[in-house]
Amino acid sequence: MNQKFIDLRSDTVTKPSKAMRQAIAEAEVGDDVFEDDPTVQKLEEMVSELLGKEKSLFVPSGTMANEVAIKSWTEPGDEVVLEVDSHIYNYEVGAPSVLCGVQMHTLKGKRGVLSAEQILDHIRPQDIHIPPTTLICLENTHNRAGGTIYPIEEIKKIREATKPLGIKMHLDGARLWNATVATGIPLDQYARWFDSVSVCLSKALGAPIGSVITGDSDFIQTARRNRKMFGGGMRQVGIIAAAGIYAIENNFNRLIEDHRNAKALAEGLSKIPKISVDLESVQTNIVVIDIKESGMEVEEALEKLKERNVLAVPFGKTQIRCVTHLDVNRDDIYQALEVFKQIFENPSKD
Ligand SMILES: Cc1ncc(COP(=O)(O)O)c(C=O)c1O
Repeated sequence: MNQKFIDLRSDTVTKPSKAMRQAIAEAEVGDDVFEDDPTVQKLEEMVSELLGKEKSLFVPSGTMANEVAIKSWTEPGDEVVLEVDSHIYNYEVGAPSVLCGVQMHTLKGKRGVLSAEQILDHIRPQDIHIPPTTLICLENTHNRAGGTIYPIEEIKKIREATKPLGIKMHLDGARLWNATVATGIPLDQYARWFDSVSVCLSKALGAPIGSVITGDSDFIQTARRNRKMFGGGMRQVGIIAAAGIYAIENNFNRLIEDHRNAKALAEGLSKIPKISVDLESVQTNIVVIDIKESGMEVEEALEKLKERNVLAVPFGKTQIRCVTHLDVNRDDIYQALEVFKQIFENPSKD
């Protein structure tokens, strides 16, 4: 992608910096399927420590992390409860059904958040006719809801209500880093309520690839086997784990800047007539813009933005998503705002 673009499509578009590339070049490696790669082990230990879990497992993607976790906690025919706009339900190509053989039971949350009462209402009773509910998956921060943060009190309530029923909890924490930076609640305080957590290194943290699943030793042993089955056993991957280590050490605390940039973008956009932003949902680095009132089609709006060097993605029939990240600064945000103004304040002049 040409560098002149202000690329707000996703926080996955960041490119490894010189220093990150240096860390990659210097990584010590070994065959990770033989558990011989010291850099992978260092990354896994780092994540276990940060999230307060016994063991971790490096995987290529957030999707594989979630699917390995689901596969490891369930049997075919089980039911998994999750939010209707969750990444697992919408963007993982039906993998829970295809790869794990589970039935997904979706519930509509408020800004991506399901309450404990809501979940409890939908736990299946034990009966030979009925699929058993064995797993709940939550997402923090919630991508489709606009980067919203799951309130920790609600997570605790869900855990306390469902643990006695023997139900496991998995957190899709692709952007848990953002929740921690925004709230000041440490990663391990979120993770303690879950049996497994997946975190991504290739989104807000800016690594080119990689996610990590964390949990207790038995779970990770099963997950390692399932990772192999899903084709995710990798060899000298210290070269990419090194990027992950670099990302955690250098790009975690700076996420606050992305959040400030997202807020500045959202506030600027909310002053432009005929487009709207739910400012309450702008809690981290994602801004969802509704252009319905402008009468403009999403594809047309995206094309006009692109002509003026701003990239965003469609996010529903009348919505556009912008994500702030490592490779956009405040000036880029002001420039993007000017472009939005040109397009929506005076569309007829176009
Ligand atoms: C919340 C969430 N979970 C999981 C994923 C999947 O990550 P990957 O693209 O690495 O498979 C994403 C990707 O954007 C995401 O936003």
